[in-house]
Amino acid sequence: MWSFGKSWRWAISEMDMSILVFNGFLLLGFVVASVPDVLVLGSPGSTQLVNGDTPMKKCRYNRAYSMLEASCSNLELHDIPTNLKADIQVLDVTVNRLRELTNDSLTSYKSLAYIYLGDNFIQNIEEGAFAKQKYLEVLDLSQNGCDTLPKSLFQLPYLRTLYLGYNKLTDSVFKMEVTSPIQMLQLTRNKLTKIPYIGPQPTLVSLNVSENLITSVDTEDLAPFCSLKLLDLSRNIIKFNSAANGCECEMLNAWVKLHQIKMKPIFFNCTNSNIITEECTNLQFSNRTYELYNQCSSIIQQKVETEKARSVWILVVTCVSGFLFIVFTVLCCVHKRNRRRRRKQKEQQQLAANNANTELLNSNLTTGNS
Ligand SMILES: *[C@@H]1O[C@H](CO)[C@@H](O)[C@H](O)[C@H]1NC(C)=O
Ligand SMILES: *[C@@H]1O[C@H](CO)[C@@H](O)[C@H](O)[C@H]1NC(C)=O
Ligand SMILES: *[C@@H]1O[C@H](CO)[C@@H](O)[C@H](O)[C@H]1NC(C)=O
Ligand SMILES: *[C@@H]1O[C@H](CO)[C@@H](O)[C@H](O)[C@H]1NC(C)=O
Repeated sequence: MWSFGKSWRWAISEMDMSILVFNGFLLLGFVVASVPDVLVLGSPGSTQLVNGDTPMKKCRYNRAYSMLEASCSNLELHDIPTNLKADIQVLDVTVNRLRELTNDSLTSYKSLAYIYLGDNFIQNIEEGAFAKQKYLEVLDLSQNGCDTLPKSLFQLPYLRTLYLGYNKLTDSVFKMEVTSPIQMLQLTRNKLTKIPYIGPQPTLVSLNVSENLITSVDTEDLAPFCSLKLLDLSRNIIKFNSAANGCECEMLNAWVKLHQIKMKPIFFNCTNSNIITEECTNLQFSNRTYELYNQCSSIIQQKVETEKARSVWILVVTCVSGFLFIVFTVLCCVHKRNRRRRRKQKEQQQLAANNANTELLNSNLTTGNS
């Protein structure tokens, strides 16, 4: 059942609405039938009867991979319920009627790692809405009306996956450094006109900017993503400007090939550019491209070295403490043995003295008797 729930959730952005709604009902029906005793009121006083006597506006609790999940999908909610168990780690409020996320929307919950808010009408998100979600790893805001996002979102320490597809995001959303360890950034069908410049991103593996308004791409746009393996640029209106830097198109293809990035489209057809292709055989990436790439790689290098230094340090500490323990144990044993030996010696001496006394006494007695 969990795997069904998971795949259903992961596939949200790929599915069309009717399938989603159908699956939602199916899942709801299944869970309600199998675990009727874990029902909880999502928003108090708003219970509504649909299909005879099936109560609809209730969130359910699930255990998904040992995490506590509150599942509130498809309940016609206008706000995120604030009376759920405080220690939920997964919150699913997909397919509802949310319009706004305020600073207080999520303050009841401090342990959230996964938040799914896809397929709502969210347009406005206040700056502090996610600021306290310090354990947040995955956020789904796809299929909403967002044209901007809070800056603090991109500073969360564990955030690694962002589903932001099917919104109205513009270039200005990304006018800053992203410091979260983002691995996956899904930005399909927004209003971007260029690849977001968000500083070096050593963890970013997958970037999907298909169906945007991107008009140009060059190697300097991709260089800050030194771990990138998947790039979807399809369904944009990319034109390579041959006037400024003749071989942009060839260079991009070469860069993608060199770094083994799986790109969509697989490559750009450069025969349309005004420059004759032969001129672009001896390609030299710009110094800025190398600079950006090296900036990103050096962060990885640094991390590796810190990790190495740490493990060496741990090894040293472990060895030293092991050695000290052995020395201590040996000293203890020696000390104990010495004490035992000394005690024995003392006893023997005492015994000898006693014997001597007895003998003396005996001899005295004998002399007295005779
Ligand atoms: C929300 O929080 C941010 C800071 O996190 C603050 O600047 C803003 O004024 C708050 N908005 C409201 C409506 O309280
Ligand atoms: C990018 O996202 C779109 C829409 O979800 C999807 O169809 C496409 O397969 C994605 N691209 C890659 C390379 O995964
Ligand atoms: C590239 O585009 C040109 C002109 O549009 C076309 O003739 C050629 O077949 C294309 N090349 C490839 C490899 O698709
Ligand atoms: C790029 O760097 C090389 C070597 O460091 C230098 O010779 C060259 O002039 C630089 N090119 C530009 C355009 O700055």
